[in-house]
Amino acid sequence: MFDREIAGLSRAGLLRGVLSRASAQGPVIFIGRKKYINFASNDYLGLSSHSDLACVASQALERYGSGAGASRLLAGGTLLHDKLEELIVAWKETDRAIIFNSGYAANTGVIPSIAGESDVIFSDELNHASIIDGCSLSRARTVVYRHKDISHLKRLLRTENGRRKIIITDTVFSMDGDIAPIKELHELCRTRNVSRTTRPSVLLYLDDAHGTGVLGQGRGALAHFGLQPERWIIQMGTFSKAMGSFGAFAAGNRDIIQWISNTSRSFLFSTALPPCVIASAIAAVRIISKDLLLIQRLWTNRDALMQSLGKMGYEETGSETPIIPLRAASVQEALGMSQFLFEQGIYAPAIRPPTVKEPRIRVVVSAAHEERHLNRLVAALGKWRSRKLNRGD
Ligand SMILES: Cc1ncc(COP(=O)(O)O)c(C=O)c1O
Repeated sequence: MFDREIAGLSRAGLLRGVLSRASAQGPVIFIGRKKYINFASNDYLGLSSHSDLACVASQALERYGSGAGASRLLAGGTLLHDKLEELIVAWKETDRAIIFNSGYAANTGVIPSIAGESDVIFSDELNHASIIDGCSLSRARTVVYRHKDISHLKRLLRTENGRRKIIITDTVFSMDGDIAPIKELHELCRTRNVSRTTRPSVLLYLDDAHGTGVLGQGRGALAHFGLQPERWIIQMGTFSKAMGSFGAFAAGNRDIIQWISNTSRSFLFSTALPPCVIASAIAAVRIISKDLLLIQRLWTNRDALMQSLGKMGYEETGSETPIIPLRAASVQEALGMSQFLFEQGIYAPAIRPPTVKEPRIRVVVSAAHEERHLNRLVAALGKWRSRKLNRGD
């Protein structure tokens, strides 16, 4: 069964396989017995192997056991879950926050909870797959606007009078590393929600999966732009990337979060996250809040690599963050480049359709990379370029 379909994927260079690590996540990993410099992880701050996260996780394991055993509504959660939500509220300066089991579960849970058949969603064309799935599940009419194109969005908004509107965007686009025009989106919603006595007519849902721990001293995209949380903004973020743990949150106005916690199916009908995972997310929030040099190191590394890539001619990556796409002319070229890097001891996989339209290598820099790791990548990319030039590609 499915053999013809699988053969079709294989012919197009789109068949994927799982690759397993034999070591902790980090700037250097083992695949099998071989060592690779890793540019594929979203562990932006290197926290997933931080000793504090491991230590509090093992204490939580001893105190609370391994599994949560039930959903939050049935006491599957612990005091640690409450504590993490309190920390998110303080971090995000919102009324309330609620934990989800993953970023995917948050988007497919929250979006159908805040948007229904009579509403209309406006979604950036490069939003993450979990947002697209959340929009489908909501049964709301979904209108896709051109990537970061505020004029297009405004034109589309005008055509949808009378319905409640929800604008949804990644804050940092996960495959391109560019940042959404949050200031303009904020202003657009603010001018449409001026009355404090009536319900907001436009909600703004920000998927801050790649902004949390990276932008705004770690507090995310709103803080990065110096914007205040508003009753019509819902900020979603993940613990699975810069926070080095797992899970996600939605933070916002009291009523909205209460509504979500009563209606979001991925929250209601799923077992709570294990306490050890929550304990490490708590440790991550504390580390990020205290150690300001950590995020600075991430940005220093990112800027150094961008500079070196620029010198080599990779100027138009479009990236504004530690996610740096190196575009390829075809799937075959992306695969060839990734394989070449792999042979040079560098892990930076090819990203192909359907994840992206344009194939590429997605390089992710972390605070844990050392100068010699970045230099190795630059040297290997230099070799790849000369090889291409020599072959006349
Ligand atoms: C923008 C965005 N949103 C949501 C998710 C899903 O998060 P998680 O991996 O925690 O399920 C991802 C993960 O890749 C993402 O990039």
